[in-house]
Amino acid sequence: MTICWKRLSLQNKLRKLNLKNDFHKRVGGKYLERLSRFHGVRKAYSVAQNKIQSLNPTFYRNRLEIQDKSIFTGISVKKTVIAMQDCGVGFGLQLSTNMVEEISNFASRTPCIEPGFHEEFLAKAVKDGCLQGGRYVMRGLVNNVKNCQAIEQIVHDPLLLKIVRKYLTYWPTLITQHLTWSFASSMPEAEIKKSYPPTNFHYDIAGYNFMTAYFYITDIDIDSGPHVMIKYSHQQKPLQMLLASNCQPDDAIFNYYGKENQIVITGARGFGFVQDPSCFHKVKPPVTSNRLILQIRYS
Ligand SMILES: [Fe+2]
Repeated sequence: MTICWKRLSLQNKLRKLNLKNDFHKRVGGKYLERLSRFHGVRKAYSVAQNKIQSLNPTFYRNRLEIQDKSIFTGISVKKTVIAMQDCGVGFGLQLSTNMVEEISNFASRTPCIEPGFHEEFLAKAVKDGCLQGGRYVMRGLVNNVKNCQAIEQIVHDPLLLKIVRKYLTYWPTLITQHLTWSFASSMPEAEIKKSYPPTNFHYDIAGYNFMTAYFYITDIDIDSGPHVMIKYSHQQKPLQMLLASNCQPDDAIFNYYGKENQIVITGARGFGFVQDPSCFHKVKPPVTSNRLILQIRYS
C-alpha cells in the first residue's frame, strides 16, 4: 500500500493554508453573519424574515419552484421539526434506490475538485487517499451538481421544504448544495485532523439562520465516514466556545457536553436526516471505503 501521506512537505503546508482559508470562508462566513453563532441573533433574524415575507408570502414560496409531489413518505413534518428543535437532528428521510443510483453515477462520472486546489479529478483516480503522482487528497467536491436531476428534485421537494419553512419560520432565500467525496485513507486520524478541518468538531456559521439536509449516497458505518454530532449543542454553548473559534478539540467537547451526548450517525445508502448545523459536528474520517454525501443547506 502506498503511503504517500508521509510526504508531508511544502506542498502540505500550502495545502493546510488553502484549506484553512477555504474552511473559514465557507464556515466562518462574512463578518456580520458571524453573529449568527448566537442563538438569539438567529431567532431575531427568523422573526424579522417572517415579518418581511408575510407581506408577500406567495412571492417567496413561488420562487422556490416547489415540486408537486414529495419523494418522501411516512415522515411527520411536525415530529421532525420538534426533534430538530429539541436535540438538533431529525431522522426519517429516505431516498429511493433509483435516486441514489442516479446521484452515485453522476458523482462517479463528474470531475471533482478539492477545496484550495484547481486540479480536477475523478473519484476513481484516488487510491488510498492519493492521486496518481502522489498528492494525497482528503475530499472532492463534485462539480456542477445542479446538472443532476435527482438532486434538483430533492432540493425542491415539498415535504423537505415544509420542514425547512417550519424550522426556520420563513421560506429559505438561499439554497446551496454540495455532493462531496471523503476519501478513505490509512493516514492516522490525528494527521487528517490537521489538514481536513471538518474532521474536527465545529459548528457552521452560514447565513443568519440555516439548516441542512444530509443524504448518504454510499453505505456508511463507523469506519466509512459517519457524521458525528453532539445533541443539544445547537442551543447550548458556553461563552468561551461562542467567543473563540467555532472549532474545538474532542476533549473540550466531551468535557462540556459529555460523551453520552455524541451521536455517530450511520446508515445505508439513501439514508437521510435534517440537522441544525449550529450544533457541534464533524466527519469521522473514512478508513475502509470512500464516503459520498449530499448536503443541502437552506438559509
Ligand atoms: Fe460543518
